[in-house]
Amino acid sequence: MRSLRAFLLLPLLMLLGGSALAQGPTYGVGRTPTEEEIRAWDISISPTGEELPPGRGTPEEGALVYRRRGCAGCHGATGTDGRAPRLVKREARPGSDPWNWGRILPIRAPYATVVWDYINRGMPLNREGTLTADEVYALTAYLLFLNDVIPEDQALDAQSLPQVEMPNREAFAPLPDWKPGMPRLPGYPY
Ligand code: HEC
Repeated sequence: MRSLRAFLLLPLLMLLGGSALAQGPTYGVGRTPTEEEIRAWDISISPTGEELPPGRGTPEEGALVYRRRGCAGCHGATGTDGRAPRLVKREARPGSDPWNWGRILPIRAPYATVVWDYINRGMPLNREGTLTADEVYALTAYLLFLNDVIPEDQALDAQSLPQVEMPNREAFAPLPDWKPGMPRLPGYPY
């Protein structure tokens, strides 16, 4: 009985606590961010790429940026031999099983815009936000070329990047008749 009473009392206490919080004093800290500040923070790029900034880059330019911006220092000169995760798929054979490629964003991502967004926001590690839009297009083009997703002479910009067909795109679609307990992705064990 005792424990039952405690059990019933708990939601009541939580309710009271909640309303006490709601009536708490205001401390006068913080302020509403300006439109400009929100724009500066709101840099994520959706699959459609509509938020992409103007700019352009080719795989050839990307190879230069990769060295100039120190990517090689962590990911290795070839993108496969650094301390940081490799950036080029393991299985180069055409038609090889995508799940054997390794955790390689520039081949695994469902949309090429995800690769652009990741590099733009997260790299180079510890110097994030220092790359220009042109450099990010060039690096994305370079890494997609190294993974056989685009040809060596394809330039990427805000229009062409969202058009790139990523080879692992379909593997991200859940099975249409999925039920709890079934594997979530085709060909994947869990
Ligand atoms: C200081 C070391 C360092 C530098 C410099 C660096 N990276 Fe990285 N990078 C990392 C680490 C560590 C990760 C893994 C981060 C994680 O998993 O959270 C990573 C992850 C990545 C990934 C995702 C890999 C994956 O498959 O998930 C990409 C793409 C990438 N880096 C590209 C670049 C590019 C392009 C540059 C140069 C502009 C660069 N990195 C510079 C350390 C670095």
